[in-house]
Amino acid sequence: MDNITMNSTIELLKSHRSIRKFTAEPVPQAMLETLVEAGQAAATSSFIQACTLIQVNNTDNRRLLAEYAGNQAYVAEAPVFMVCCADMRRLQLACDLNDAPMQSGFTEQFITATADVALFSQNLTVAAESLGLGCVYIGGIRNNIAAVSELLNLPELVYPVFGLCIGYPDQNPEVKPRLPVSVVLKQDSYQDQDDGGIISEYDQAVREYYQTRTGGTKDMTWSGQMSGMLGKEARPHMLDFLQKKASC
Ligand SMILES: Cc1cc2nc3c(=O)[nH]c(=O)nc-3n(C[C@H](O)[C@H](O)[C@H](O)COP(=O)(O)O)c2cc1C
Repeated sequence: MDNITMNSTIELLKSHRSIRKFTAEPVPQAMLETLVEAGQAAATSSFIQACTLIQVNNTDNRRLLAEYAGNQAYVAEAPVFMVCCADMRRLQLACDLNDAPMQSGFTEQFITATADVALFSQNLTVAAESLGLGCVYIGGIRNNIAAVSELLNLPELVYPVFGLCIGYPDQNPEVKPRLPVSVVLKQDSYQDQDDGGIISEYDQAVREYYQTRTGGTKDMTWSGQMSGMLGKEARPHMLDFLQKKASC
């Protein structure tokens, strides 16, 4: 790639990899607050600013959350663990301040609030990586979303979207290959007649990645991984939980 299409920001973005092993070096709280400000600077649907982070410091709660997330040890071990929540309760407060009623429970609100959390958290993650930190998102907390919400005392109109571990990396994994741009960037309308062949080739790149990363023990392609996952509904409790929280 030439200099016109490469700079340090793009280089940083393209060198992302999830980090699941951290050194004991703490992340100074002032640094974390700067990262949160970077998260807040992300675009936000209609200015709703619907993301709230719960930084979990209590070690017993961290252990419980690691269990709830499907026994992911790094949830307990990472120097920082936060639960990134969609928060429409604050919007209720805004309506109350204006003596105006708020209608809730709409899919559109669910989409905008969830998108806000994703954009906020990704800004924060990129900022963290720019300072030499490593991160991993933890969708696993949604395995037990009701228990997580209870533990963190989340009220109605607030729901956890994912967790986020942050710390200094104690591992140096390879960058995971992504789908070719020709599959994810379409011109003018949706066409996928060539995508099957391109994905088959990509499968081989992913297989090589896993072989290298696991010293030959993991033999997996991208399409194989996806087909294994998509044969059944994941986390079937989600709709019921969100409806109870008046959040969709
Ligand atoms: C919303 C979300 C939830 C995720 N949940 C988990 C998780 O629970 N545990 C985990 O180890 N990785 C989790 N990941 C990390 C993905 O597995 C990872 O981003 C993906 O395999 C690509 O690898 P990379 O981040 O190293 O490029 C999650 C990522 C995202 C975006």
